[in-house]
Parts: sequence; structure tokens; C-alpha cells
Amino acid sequence: MIRRKASVNVVPYSDYGMGAVSCMLLFFLCGVLSQANAQYLFQSCDNSNGNYTANSTYNTNLITLLSNLSSNTEINYGFYNFSHGQNADKVNAIGLCRGDVEPNECRSCLKDAGGNITQLCPNQKEATIYYDNCLLRYSNHSIFGVLDISPDFYMANPNNATEVVEFNRVLDDLLKELKGKAASGDSRRKYATDNDTTMNFQTIYGLLQCSPDLTQTDCNDCLDEAITRIPTCCDDRRGGRVVGPSCNIRYENYRFYEQTTIIDPETPPPSTINTSPEESSNTTIIVIAVIVPAAAVVLVTCLFLYLRRRKARKNLAVKEEEDEKEEDEISIVESLQFNFDTIRVATEDFSDSNKLGQGGFGAVYWGRLSNGQIIAVKRLSRDSGQGDTEFKNEVLLVVKLQHRNLVRLLGFCLEGRERLLVYEFVPNKSLDYFIFDPSMKAQLDWEKRYKIIRGIARGLLYLHEDSQLRIIHRDLKASNILLDQEMNPKIADFGMARLVLMDQTQANTSRIVGTYGYMAPEYAMHGQFSVKSDVFSFGVLILEIVSGQKNSGINNGENMEDLLNFAWRNWKEGKAINIVDPSLNSNSRNEMLRCIHIGLLCVQENLVDRPTMANIVLMLNSYSLSLPIPAEPAFYMNSRTRSLPEMQSWDYNSRETGSSEPILKSAQESENEVSITELYPR
Ligand SMILES: *[C@@H]1O[C@H](CO)[C@@H](O)[C@H](O)[C@H]1NC(C)=O
Ligand SMILES: *[C@@H]1O[C@H](CO)[C@@H](O)[C@H](O)[C@H]1NC(C)=O
Ligand SMILES: *[C@@H]1O[C@H](CO)[C@@H](O)[C@H](O)[C@H]1NC(C)=O
Ligand SMILES: *[C@@H]1O[C@H](CO)[C@@H](O)[C@H](O)[C@H]1NC(C)=O
Ligand SMILES: *[C@@H]1O[C@H](CO)[C@@H](O)[C@H](O)[C@H]1NC(C)=O
Ligand SMILES: *[C@@H]1O[C@H](CO)[C@@H](O)[C@H](O)[C@H]1NC(C)=O
Ligand SMILES: *[C@@H]1O[C@H](CO)[C@@H](O)[C@H](O)[C@H]1NC(C)=O
Ligand SMILES: *[C@@H]1O[C@H](CO)[C@@H](O)[C@H](O)[C@H]1NC(C)=O
Repeated sequence: MIRRKASVNVVPYSDYGMGAVSCMLLFFLCGVLSQANAQYLFQSCDNSNGNYTANSTYNTNLITLLSNLSSNTEINYGFYNFSHGQNADKVNAIGLCRGDVEPNECRSCLKDAGGNITQLCPNQKEATIYYDNCLLRYSNHSIFGVLDISPDFYMANPNNATEVVEFNRVLDDLLKELKGKAASGDSRRKYATDNDTTMNFQTIYGLLQCSPDLTQTDCNDCLDEAITRIPTCCDDRRGGRVVGPSCNIRYENYRFYEQTTIIDPETPPPSTINTSPEESSNTTIIVIAVIVPAAAVVLVTCLFLYLRRRKARKNLAVKEEEDEKEEDEISIVESLQFNFDTIRVATEDFSDSNKLGQGGFGAVYWGRLSNGQIIAVKRLSRDSGQGDTEFKNEVLLVVKLQHRNLVRLLGFCLEGRERLLVYEFVPNKSLDYFIFDPSMKAQLDWEKRYKIIRGIARGLLYLHEDSQLRIIHRDLKASNILLDQEMNPKIADFGMARLVLMDQTQANTSRIVGTYGYMAPEYAMHGQFSVKSDVFSFGVLILEIVSGQKNSGINNGENMEDLLNFAWRNWKEGKAINIVDPSLNSNSRNEMLRCIHIGLLCVQENLVDRPTMANIVLMLNSYSLSLPIPAEPAFYMNSRTRSLPEMQSWDYNSRETGSSEPILKSAQESENEVSITELYPR
């Protein structure tokens, strides 16, 4: 689950480093300051959640909750999670201290925060207040375990770094390392700090922290997102912070955190050993007394017996686990199965007015369950030709694929020959509805489009690598990207095609499901699909999003030109900026050009030359990573073969013969110098 709101806030320097710079200069004053926790940074009062009225139950609950905050000594690891009240008047609160803050100091920071928050955000149902040492947030929504990326704020160190390229390289590596460490923390602490030094002896100190109630994946995503904001916030500066409700990043050229990690009083002592000191000293004496070879024999025997027993126990445990799993799966299947009548009622008997669209696998209907939940129901075409058990098994697999950039499958329904898939309803329409429409596209500024590109990349990476199964989408296209209220992308229709197991990276298929124009050549021609054919489709999608043009054709004055051709022609002529949708303002020119660059890498003819989704996510996140130079994309055609209708199959073989070859070569050669230098002026 993820929520996002509002926009970017930049906190000016006057507040920056109150805790650090002045601390180093004014030792004494600093002590006083930190006692008062005066390093207040920022507050966010969220109007969109409405106001409560004075003396209302919500108000009373909030006051009770906040006054209890600091007196609570139950939790000592710097994370507090409380709620108070019932139903609509329930207040949920989270307090989180920086990982190096002592418990007493932490409570005192939260106490101040609790005292100030109602004054700074009067009558707000939701608010967050940030201090150097802690943050406090409350809401009438449930916020525990929910990834919240905004509202966030930035602070940049006013001093510039020297040798920026080297600085960014080291910074990048440091943040990457810390991201992994922080995300893999436990449910009490997701926090990591470290330092690294550049070749010209600038030391960078970094600190990354997630709210520990996040999952590892969410923490990772949150930090990824924060890292991508560094160029916007603090490009080339010596230090900076990106701070949000769920995670934050800070780096500086001085140490601003305590190196000692707070010892967690709740951590059980390292596995208790049963032997008492006396016994072990006895053992020592015996070992010394007995002749060495005998001891060796005993040891080996013991070890052997021990290992055998352990193995037997392990086998038993595994078997029990498997049995349990089987039982679980059966009950899960039951809980996923919807009654046909329930769905029929919810969709008003699959009425035309409830029909949302018609996809390749069947019609999709809007529905409302009796408990008010809104769903989308895909009614599969009746000839999907698959046994009930097989169908249930596949549903069970696909249900497990949960990611914030995937449309969530909630369950299924089987009735006679009817097969229904029940999905979460995603409120906004699909991406194609926005980007290809001259009036709608205005709603997608560059920031949103970039967010969409990164979201799709993450969803796809999850399908390819992070989920237990390797899922190849095979029909990625703009109409399969749904948008939620905050314009977060969610990939639809995944797992519809045959599932491919992890050890089987490539498989041939006789039934091609993709959409021409998005399909990789090897898939369109030979039915060979792989993660790299999804990458191809993703590349086409990036180019569509940046250009606001359909892949099938750009009206280029007198004749039509397909998008890849258009993009490549402009790129190699060093005029890549022509590809960008004119309706976008070009403040983020570098980001746009980088996306085009990545898009072109994805549509390379040779699948080995296409990056993996993991690489792409890295390229999108890591601003200093240099990208390989693309060669001409697949399906590059000269002007004579340009005007292809969307559904016509590509005349692929003609590319392999004679005349076009020299043209392509020279294009590639000239491209190396011209466009790259033009591309990223610094
Ligand atoms: C809530 O209160 C704030 C100031 O107290 C006001 O600006 C805002 O319009 C109010 N919002 C609603 C929805 O009443
Ligand atoms: C809320 O309660 C306080 C004290 O109980 C009282 O002084 C104040 O007038 C009340 N405010 C409203 C809006 O009822
Ligand atoms: C206040 O905190 C104590 C623990 O210190 C807890 O037992 C109690 O339930 C809390 N009260 C409320 C209203 O949250
Ligand atoms: C935090 O709150 C959630 C939901 O209210 C609850 O399930 C969880 O147990 C709480 N965790 C702690 C550590 O209090
Ligand atoms: C927050 O509260 C403390 C005392 O509780 C006070 O000294 C400080 O000025 C307050 N800060 C803000 C920003 O209101
Ligand atoms: C929180 O409050 C807002 C505004 O009053 C309301 O629309 C929303 O439904 C509430 N959320 C919950 C979970 O009660
Ligand atoms: C940092 O660099 C920018 C541009 O390179 C320059 O405008 C600015 O004055 C520099 N700031 C300092 C403190 O040197
Ligand atoms: C830098 O980090 C290392 C551990 O990676 C630590 O041993 C060292 O003390 C740190 N240096 C400073 C100056 O904090």
C-alpha cells in the first residue's frame, strides 16, 4: 500500500545543520539546544484529510494519545506506534527517532513534537512534524506499515563539492550500500550509517533510515525514490537531505551522527548456552587429561551423531512445513473464491453500463460488492480451455504477486464454464487515455510521467526478478498501465500468459499474445519471448511517454513515421530534444534525454544489448551512472518502408538483406560523437 500526496518542499538553509554546523562551533550552546530538541525542521499539515472540530471525540483522542506519548517507556528502540479511539474517531500515530538517538532523548524529542504539533497544525486530522532527532505523525487513516512517500522535503548543504564526478561516484556507491543495509534491518530498526572517501580525500558520511514497520521491499523502494531526488535537491552539493514520512536520507562531509549504535535492551542475549561455567571448565580438564587421539575419535563420533540427528530433525520439519503449506493453500484457495451470484449482483448482471473495456482475454466490468468494496471483474472468454484445478493453481500463483505497481488480483470465480478474475479497481483510466490525447496529456507533466516510467520499471522488475516466479508479461503497452488517484502506475494483465518458471528463462510459444508495435522482433517473428522481450516493450513505452506519441505513427508533415524510427533519426542527428513532447516544459531536459537514451537501449535488436530491468531501474535511479551508446533499434527502416499500419506484421526479413546495411553502419558511427556530446551538456 502506498499513499502519496502534495508536492515538494524545500527547507531553506537557515534551518540547515542547526544540529551539526553550529554544534561543532558552539559546543556548549549545542548541548542546550539538543536538550530542548530545538532542531525543528519542518511540519506538514495535510488539509486534504479535513479538519476536526474543537472538543470533538477525535480531538480528545488525539490529546490523550499525544500526552501519553512520552510517558510510554515500553518501547525502547526508537519507534513508537500508538492508536487511540474507535472507528472514525480513531487516531493513529507513529513516532520515529533517528537510529543513534538515546531512548531518553528520543522520548523527549517526541514529547516536544507532541506538544507542538497541535499548535503548528491546528485542527488537522493528519499531520507530520520533523525534528533533527525524531519525527511524529498522526492520521485518522491507518499508517502502520504503509509506505508514504510524500509530503517530503529537501535540504541542501550550500557548499559545493569538489571533483563532482568522483564525489557522485563515491556518494552513489555509499548510498547504494546503505540502502541495502537499512532495508534489511529488522522490524525494530531499519537504519544504517557509514562513510567513504573519494580519491581526492573528501569524506562522505551517509545516513539512511526507514520506518521499521515497512517491509524490506517498501523500505528499498522508499529509499530508491529518495535517492533519485538527490539531483533535484542537492546536485553537486557537499551534503543534503531528502526526508519523508517513511524514510529519509542524509549525507554530509562531516560526521553528523553518533557512531555508537544504541544497544537494544530488548534484544535477547546471544543464544544461551546450557553449560554452566563449572561444567565447561570440567570439560576442559577432561579434554586435556585424555589422550589426544581418543578425544579426536570421540569428537568425530559426536559430530557425526549430531549432524545425523540434525538432518533427521530438519527433514521432519521440512515435511511438516510442507503439509502445513498444503493445508494453507487449500484454505487460501477457498478464501479467494467468490460466489458467482455475488459477482453477478456486484456488476449488475454484467450490464453494458458497467463494462469498463474489452481486453484480449475478455471483457472487464466495474462492480461494487455488498460491503462497498469496488472491484474490476474480468470475464474470461469462454474458450480459455483450461481445467478447473489448473486454473485455480494459476490464480493462486498470480495472487501472490503483490507490488504497488501491479494491479492486485483479489480472487476468482468459477461457475460452469464461467471464469472470472476479480481485481482491485484502479480509479483513473489507463495511460493511453492520457498521453495520446492532446487535451488530457496536459494532466501529465514531466514529474508525473517520470514517476510513471519509474513505477512501471519497478513493477516489471518485480515480475522478472523479485517475485518467486519469473513472470514475463508479454503484452506490456500503454493500455495495460492503469493509473490510480495519485497517478501511480499499476501494470495490468500480468500473469495472463503462460507462467514461466525461474529456471526457464526463455520459452517458445505458438500462441503469440503481444501487440504489434510493442513486440520485440524475436517474439513477433519466432514467438520467442523472454524478459528481454518485455524490456523491448518497455522501451517502446518509455518513448511513447516522453514523446506523447503512439508507436504506430507520428504524423511528420506529409508522411507517417513510426516512433522508433523517428526517435532514432533525431537521436543520431543529435536532435534528441525533438523527440520530447512539445507540451512538456523542458526544465528537466537531462532527465528526459536520459529516458530517451534508456528507451533506445531497450529497443536494441539484439537482445543481449538490451539492459535487464534491474539495470534499467539502476539507470533511472543513479544519476551518475553512464549509459552505453545505443546502436540503431530493431525495425529501423528507411523512408520507403515507413508507413506501416499498426496491426500489420513487420516485414522483418527485408531488414537483413542488402541495401539498408551500409546506411545503418554509418548512422551508428556518426552517432557516437555527435549526439552524446550534445546530449548531456553540463
Ligand atoms: C481546515 O482549517 C484550515 C485552517 O484552520 C483551513 O485553512 C481549511 O480551509 C480547513 N479545511 C476544511 C476542509 O475545512
Ligand atoms: C472546548 O472546551 C473548552 C474547555 O472545556 C472550552 O473552554 C471551549 O469553549 C470549548 N470549545 C468549543 C468550541 O466548544
Ligand atoms: C498510555 O501508556 C501506557 C503505557 O505507558 C499504556 O498502558 C496505556 O494504555 C496508554 N494509554 C492510552 C490511552 O493510550
Ligand atoms: C502498531 O499498530 C498496528 C496496527 O494498529 C498493530 O497491528 C501493531 O501490533 C502495532 N505495533 C506495535 C509495535 O505496537
Ligand atoms: C516546541 O515546544 C518546545 C517546548 O515544548 C518549545 O520550546 C519550542 O519553541 C516549540 N517549537 C516550536 C517550533 O513551536
Ligand atoms: C479521515 O477523515 C477524512 C475527512 O474527514 C474522511 O474523508 C476519511 O474517510 C477518514 N478516514 C478514515 C479511515 O476514517
Ligand atoms: C556552487 O556552484 C554553483 C554553480 O556551479 C555556483 O553558482 C555557486 O555560487 C557555488 N556555491 C558556492 C558556495 O561556492
Ligand atoms: C568511517 O567508517 C568506518 C567503518 O566503515 C569506521 O571504522 C571509521 O571510524 C569511520 N570514520 C570516521 C571518521 O567516522
